[in-house]
Amino acid sequence: MRIKTATPEAIQEAATLLNDGGLVAMPTETVYGLAANAFDGKAVARIFEAKGRPSFNPLIVHVFDVSEAQALVEFDDRAMMVADKFWPGPLTMILPRRGDCEISELVSAGLPTLAVRVPRHKVSRDLIQAAGVPLAAPSANSSGGLSPTAPIHVADSLGENVDLILAAGPSEVGLESTVLDLSGERAVILRPGAVTAEELSELLDEEVLVDAGESAKPKSPGMLLKHYAPDTPVRLNAIDVEDGEALLAFGSEKFMSIRSGGAVSELPDNMRMNLSVNGDLHEAAANLFAYLKELDQPGCKAIAVMAIPETGLGVAINDRLKRAAQGSPDIQMKAK
Ligand code: TXA
Ligand code: MG
Repeated sequence: MRIKTATPEAIQEAATLLNDGGLVAMPTETVYGLAANAFDGKAVARIFEAKGRPSFNPLIVHVFDVSEAQALVEFDDRAMMVADKFWPGPLTMILPRRGDCEISELVSAGLPTLAVRVPRHKVSRDLIQAAGVPLAAPSANSSGGLSPTAPIHVADSLGENVDLILAAGPSEVGLESTVLDLSGERAVILRPGAVTAEELSELLDEEVLVDAGESAKPKSPGMLLKHYAPDTPVRLNAIDVEDGEALLAFGSEKFMSIRSGGAVSELPDNMRMNLSVNGDLHEAAANLFAYLKELDQPGCKAIAVMAIPETGLGVAINDRLKRAAQGSPDIQMKAK
């Protein structure tokens, strides 16, 4: 692992790494973040792997200014007021994804909303500009650990899992950004931070409540968040496909058959998707939410999902699949 003082040359090198699918730890005014190109699903998958996150919590997308945010999410008057007052700065807004938003589905964990933030720290701003793409970045610590406020914390926590650490001294705020959910009728703070409920209430002329749930506890960030759940029932560890079911495959489909007879290759194209033909867990993670959505269609009786190995990123993939399967009616979970 390499630590470099955030000189213009180092920032340029970091930008190149990001465009090549690499991971860079960057200073922001709140805490150090572990950044990847937010358009690149495989790179985003590497973030979860590097952090050893057992599940896919949605990530914050860092952009240079309001207009870049407006290209990704639906901005209303309320969002504009908040942006005018608090951006650049330690505040994240949750807003509906635009229909043409090309940020990886893995970044927002399949949710219809996206978290966006314009950081104030000069190095993160220079890096976003040099990379020329929005940067997905959670705090740069391994899962369950404390958020890093100095380069050495990142090195200790993530070690070889990060390609380059841009060092720029201790973080100014030292606490993660305020997360403000503006996707619903009421403005709600999901995570308290340097921008307070009082300030936001005054600005928006409405009482902004804090509803942090379990996510307020550092050990379980985001665990109580709403999760993407398909309307179509999900059947896990499938070893064959029933009539009317769609197939979400992983690896070779050679031994998968349709229960009433025939090979799965006979399924119509829109009823069969493969998370990764080669069994690559990064690719599977990157495709997971997009493919689940694709198969979540009225014509499908259920989505039969092949087993995913419970190793590395597979743990997080299986966590989300289990959540997606919860509440699926009358589905017999066929364990192998
Ligand atoms: O200060 C910060 O926000 C730092 C720096 C690096 O920018 N980043 C950070 O990211 O703390 P992370 O991933 O550790 O926390 C992101 C928080 C989580 O609590 C997550 O659940 C929430 O934002 N979040 C992200 N997208 C969301 C969404 N679409 N809906 C609801 N909550 C979301
Ligand atoms: Mg964190």
